[in-house]
Amino acid sequence: MDMNRRGLLIAFEGIDGTGKSSQLQMLATTLEQLGRSVVITREPTDGPYGRKIRSLFTSRAGITPAEELALFMADRREHVREVIEPALRAGRIVLTDRYYLSTAAYQGAAGQDPEAIMAANETFAPVPDLVLLLTLTSSQSVHRIRSLRGEALNDFEQEDTLTRVAAIFAGLDRSYIARVDAAGSLLEVRDRVEARVRLLLAEKLAGGDCPAWE
Ligand code: TYD
Repeated sequence: MDMNRRGLLIAFEGIDGTGKSSQLQMLATTLEQLGRSVVITREPTDGPYGRKIRSLFTSRAGITPAEELALFMADRREHVREVIEPALRAGRIVLTDRYYLSTAAYQGAAGQDPEAIMAANETFAPVPDLVLLLTLTSSQSVHRIRSLRGEALNDFEQEDTLTRVAAIFAGLDRSYIARVDAAGSLLEVRDRVEARVRLLLAEKLAGGDCPAWE
């Protein structure tokens, strides 16, 4: 396959409260201003499995860790087939709010083996060109969720859970992972995100006649 025409897959990852969704929106705007065709998407998706998962958010009682993992995997299979692969084939830039590193980290924190989850996903899900892994301590993230969003924490967001999730994210080792410090203002973090994406575009477009960024 011609890699220059395949599109690009960029995932935002990190624990809750790191500002992934805001950063994704800002990056999409920047890329669109550069004339790029961007697809914004997220996991859990808005499809049937994603809706089922969202209904579990307030309480995970009544479902086993294995059943929870199976739901996230089914949601991703559908997401890959219906959204991600068609967009990549059309040469678009896909920005996804969460991808399979979240499964490794969150379902890993619930007792599954993170590396086995990574390996299972890598059999069917396109490997991302770049994962922007936004990093924040779990106490900073809980503070943001509580005070900025004014929300109570759901079962995925309890501080001890997030501490375990953050530790698994910290241990994941893949060449496409770029760790981005999420402490600081939205604009400071945006600059860090853009610096990584600029590098990616320069690398992927090397030799092409299309200016990567300016
Ligand atoms: P989140 O991105 O916070 O959704 P929203 O902000 O739209 O409500 O994701 C919801 C939760 O799902 C989050 O706490 C992490 C969890 N999650 C997993 O446990 N495994 C996964 O594979 C994914 C994609 C998400």
